[in-house]
Amino acid sequence: MSIKKIYSLFAALLASVFIISGCTATDGKRIVRIAHAQSETHPDHLGLLEFEKYVEANLGDKYDVQIFPNELLGASVKAIELTQTGAIDFVVCSTGNLETFDDIYSIFSIPYLFDSTEAYYAAMEDEELKERIYTATRESGFEAVTWFDAGTRNFYTTKPVTGPDDLKGLKLRVQQSPSNVNMVKAFGAAAAPMSFGEVYTAIQQGVIDGAENNELALTNNKHGEVAKYYVYDRHQMVPDMLVGNVKFLDSLSPEEREVFDRAAEICNEVERREWLVQVEDAKRQAEEMGVNFSDVDVEAFKAKVMDLQHQMVADNEKLAPIYERIQTINKEVG
Ligand code: GCU
Repeated sequence: MSIKKIYSLFAALLASVFIISGCTATDGKRIVRIAHAQSETHPDHLGLLEFEKYVEANLGDKYDVQIFPNELLGASVKAIELTQTGAIDFVVCSTGNLETFDDIYSIFSIPYLFDSTEAYYAAMEDEELKERIYTATRESGFEAVTWFDAGTRNFYTTKPVTGPDDLKGLKLRVQQSPSNVNMVKAFGAAAAPMSFGEVYTAIQQGVIDGAENNELALTNNKHGEVAKYYVYDRHQMVPDMLVGNVKFLDSLSPEEREVFDRAAEICNEVERREWLVQVEDAKRQAEEMGVNFSDVDVEAFKAKVMDLQHQMVADNEKLAPIYERIQTINKEVG
């Protein structure tokens, strides 16, 4: 049996232990479980540690927050399912992975949605957009409490890429997201949807020719050891979201909910600050690993997927008002 199979059996076992054992610790406190896919040095994890600290400083007699990093409870899709059913309480995951659970999240998979990082930040902090998105997924069993910066997604490959035509015929990993499959196809490549934890081995074994992600994937997840060409085509800015189980959030008293909401705000601030520091470090470290970073003609890449951008909005009626608001922000912020 492969290590990966043993690992996922372990994750499944752990999750079923939670379902059977429930949420109460021996000291009578309610255990609040949070899963994510990153390492313990990643900005997401550092943000969550502050979440834990704040909740326990204010409600420590009642709640014991436990964080499970490194896909310990299963890869993102599995961890979202566990959050949906209430086996765990929160998950941090990419909107790419949330998309199949509630298609409102496909908004962030639209290639070249934001005109700049400033417009992206303004949109993520925009109250109208938060209202439209955060609670819209309640019927799917979860709602968002905050967002995390996950930078800009770019392609990285085992073969040099200088323009969009070099992507033709390559097999590239995408998240388990139909929109991302379509995007990669529009670039003329073949899409290989798989979980984050599977990417390193897939590149190493030549099953795929590369993937697309932010710079931390090269270092934190060591993808830079096996893919040496990173091109700044800047096709997406896809946030990570902290989403919680609806029943758990609804079980909180208004005072408790206020504490959890403030904890989420603090965790967002810490994560975003850490993100900016770590992304610069990651570039330096990746260069030392021999990764070649190159700037490319972004407009040439954009031209390949603008039809898809419009098609995605036309195909999903939930997206139009959100898309329009983002276009206004793009114009205002530039
Ligand atoms: C980023 C993101 C993760 C996501 C991963 C992926 O690392 O922060 O939430 O799972 O990309 O591509 O799967």
